[in-house]
Amino acid sequence: MNSKSKKRSPIVLIASISALLIVAICGAVYYKYVVVEDPIAQQENSEEQPATELDSKDEQTTEPDSTDEQSDPHQASTSDKAEQPTSSTQTEKPDTSTNEPKDQVELLNGYVVGQQPATEPTYVNGILIVNKKNPLPPTYNKGEDPKAKAAFEKMAAAAKNEGFELVPFSGFRSYEYQTTLYDRYVNRDGKDAADRYSARPGYSEHQSGLAFDIGEKGREDLWLTSAFGESPAGKWLVENAHKYGFILRYPEGKEDVTGFMYESWHFRYLEGDTAAKVYEAGVTLEEYLGV
Ligand code: DAL
Ligand code: ZN
Repeated sequence: MNSKSKKRSPIVLIASISALLIVAICGAVYYKYVVVEDPIAQQENSEEQPATELDSKDEQTTEPDSTDEQSDPHQASTSDKAEQPTSSTQTEKPDTSTNEPKDQVELLNGYVVGQQPATEPTYVNGILIVNKKNPLPPTYNKGEDPKAKAAFEKMAAAAKNEGFELVPFSGFRSYEYQTTLYDRYVNRDGKDAADRYSARPGYSEHQSGLAFDIGEKGREDLWLTSAFGESPAGKWLVENAHKYGFILRYPEGKEDVTGFMYESWHFRYLEGDTAAKVYEAGVTLEEYLGV
């Protein structure tokens, strides 16, 4: 009996150890492949990360007031985005305007090519505008404007008190007389040059009876010259003409706006306080009227 029990003991021991080893190995394998490297567990982890990022974005967009420090940069970014459509709208405007009819007309020396003679004078805000784009009808022949003439006399009296005798050496000019003048200048200097300083018939402010070419008596050498604008009389006119209803119509550096070279001598009468407003604004009549 004892020998049998002695013989069985090692077998039981080996079986027990084997069983323990199998359990240990199975446990290790389970831990390695089922718990640690479980592909399903890994998939769940990888999906959580983008979910977390989305949550973070949601916080920025839906909860901008979470902290003041965070909301400032966020607002800056938002305002940047808000400005982009505005600026893109602004850049689109010129593209649209280039398709407007006014850009389809062909200009030569500032005149609309093929423009027919005007049938009516052009008024903007009640003010008569005569320039290369707004001609007078050939039949517009009212002569010198009495109010303009009276205003000039008043201005000349004030100038005389300052020691200057002003001379309106050219006032009203008919359509026919302007034709004679313009043709003479074209023959002398060519059309391109003449178009810079002499209006074509129908396009001269002198035909309106509201314009005067002004010089100083005794300084005829300065008439029709830029130097007149540098003389005491010319400077006095620039600084004071608006008080009497006159504006320097073709200022220096504005040829692209008015269509004509600087004319220190050409003044235009405007009723009421319009001349003072144009002077104070420091703009041309075209700019003042927005034409
Ligand atoms: N000299 C001006 C532009 C005119 O001819 O009316
Ligand atoms: Zn003139």
